[in-house]
Amino acid sequence: MYCARLARPPRRAPDAAVPGPDSEHVSPRHALRPMRPSDLEAVVAIEGEIYSHPWTLGNFRDSLHAGYSCWVLQGGSGLIGYCVMMVGVGEAHLLNLSIASAWQRRGLGRHMVEHLLELARTWDVKEMLLEVRPSNTAARALYANMGFRELARRRDYYPAERGREDAIVMARECGGPRTAGATVGE
Ligand SMILES: CC(C)(COP(=O)(O)OP(=O)(O)OC[C@H]1O[C@@H](n2cnc3c(N)ncnc32)[C@H](O)[C@@H]1OP(=O)(O)O)[C@@H](O)C(=O)NCCC(=O)NCCS
Repeated sequence: MYCARLARPPRRAPDAAVPGPDSEHVSPRHALRPMRPSDLEAVVAIEGEIYSHPWTLGNFRDSLHAGYSCWVLQGGSGLIGYCVMMVGVGEAHLLNLSIASAWQRRGLGRHMVEHLLELARTWDVKEMLLEVRPSNTAARALYANMGFRELARRRDYYPAERGREDAIVMARECGGPRTAGATVGE
């Protein structure tokens, strides 16, 4: 337990700048802002780059019109990520979480989920749910790392290269920080 604790990398301070490609630095907290209709072209460009079955412009437009909680991460030279959360009574559903490929693995996805959990708490939402492809090892690792647990499978939920792919339903309570693998007392 002691060794595991020592082996964990230090958590980045919320305002610390994250180095990205081409010597660009982004402070995740300051880079987050609500999504606007004028962002949608850039959002859809990233979506097409990172997903085999991307959301359409209409999906994002509908999310904005429906009043879902839609956010973007603004880099100096364009958007680098975005997320969409639907909030209901006592429950929030994470519908989209995306980081442009050149900016992945810098803590930005985790930062966006933390931001959404924080928002959900302020709205007294108890639980956050999401679906993820079994084949999406990066996203599953992120969610498990942040304390999401697997609840169920939805059969043939997603379109796939060949036929359909199941969805794993994951959930965690919004209250209080819960990090998988955290040492007692941490
Ligand atoms: C999934 C995604 C949002 C993660 O965002 P990210 O900014 O790259 O992830 P982070 O740097 O915040 O990673 C946080 C943790 O998640 C896990 N993780 C993230 N990417 C991983 C990868 N490629 N392989 C293994 N674990 C990974 C790790 O536990 C990581 O912690 P660590 O860096 O301390 O080891 C991003 O990879 C992405 O946009 N992928 C394409 C779109 C997608 O699949 N979205 C999710 C749909 S459900």
